[in-house]
Parts: sequence; C-alpha cells; structure tokens
Amino acid sequence: MVNCIETLKQIGIVPVIQIERAEDAKPLGETLKKAGLFAAEITFRTEAAAEALRIMASEVPELFVCAGTILTPEDAERAVAGGAKAIISPGTNPAVVRWCIEHDVPVIPGCATPSEVEWCMREGLNMVKLFPAEVVGGVSMLRALAGPYASMQFMPTGGISPDNVGAYLSLSNVAACGGSWIVPKAFLQEGQFDKVEALAREAVCLAKRYR
Ligand code: 3PG
Repeated sequence: MVNCIETLKQIGIVPVIQIERAEDAKPLGETLKKAGLFAAEITFRTEAAAEALRIMASEVPELFVCAGTILTPEDAERAVAGGAKAIISPGTNPAVVRWCIEHDVPVIPGCATPSEVEWCMREGLNMVKLFPAEVVGGVSMLRALAGPYASMQFMPTGGISPDNVGAYLSLSNVAACGGSWIVPKAFLQEGQFDKVEALAREAVCLAKRYR
C-alpha cells in the first residue's frame, strides 16, 4: 500500500476510463505513456473492462493500472488476475476492502463521510478516495477532514476538471486526483487518441505545477 500511495503521489492525476472496446486498451495505454501520464483507472462498468485492463496492464507495463468501480470481491479477484495494481471502489465496501487486505492488494475505497474514513482507518488503510468529491464538499471537506484525520491521504474523484484540480492538488492530504475528463468517451469511440494525448499532456503539466 505504501508503494501504491507513493506512486500515485508522484503521478498526481489518474484518468478514470470507461472503455467499451477491449481493442482500444493498447493504443490508449500507449497514448497515456507517450503523454507521460503513467496511471489509469479502468472502471468495471462495461463488458470489456476486465479484458481491457488485462491488455493495458500487460502491453503497457509502465502504467500503474488500477481497477475502478469494483463492487464485489469477485470483481476484485478478476481485476487482480488481469494485472490490476490497486482496487478502487466508489463506496466504503467492507467485502471488497477485506478481500483486498486478505490478499495483500492495495485498495482505495470511496468515502463521503467522517464515519467512513474512520471505518477505513480501523481496517488499517491510510488512503481513501473522496467520492463524489465536488458533491460532498470538495476542497472544504478535505480541509475539514485534515484536522481529525491528519494521517489520512485522499484521492478525490468526481467533478474534478482542469479548472479545479489545482486547488485539490495543493492540499497536503491529497495524494492524487481522479477524473474522467482526460479520456472522454467520445474521443475513445472515435479513436481520437491525438486529442486524448493533448488532454493527458495538459494533466501532466497541471500535476507538475501544483505539486
Ligand atoms: C466516476 O466514478 O465516474 C468518477 O468519479 C469520475 O467522475 P468525473 O466524471 O466527475 O471525473
């Protein structure tokens, strides 16, 4: 888990990806790598997600490929078998968190309240996702949580864009931010990898500027 947090801290911004065609995984991974953005969260919301993750993790091993929207231990197991380096869930999901701890797999569960943060701390976690970040208070919420939970690191996700990512990355309790703006579904569907590359390069610049 320590390595996972350090890696995500260095990268700063994690593209949240919804992928419909597994064959897009390799060119997309290569695009992110070319742009210098070495992380990806493949959300398990599509039929193609597990295969796409497997392809991206094996074909572009330089990337820190995570599985997102993991709602069950079975999906966590599938994702890890495919090469996922970390498991991310939208909520504080006890079954998923415990499966990951038992199997020594880094897990970043979503939290929206102090009680959920405390539950994760009791499980021994020191990084969680704030989700949906903008809806549950965003930067103000993270500032408030820094008081009682000084050791907890967050990966806010949900409603983050190039316009507000700097405010998040400037906070000492933010390890990294997640966001879907880097890989818009339309660009992926139309194979516009050059446009994705431009957005990924911009994200790399933003991460560097605010770190
Ligand atoms: C999600 O689960 O869809 C992520 O939180 C991404 O949110 P975003 O689309 O607001 O970046």
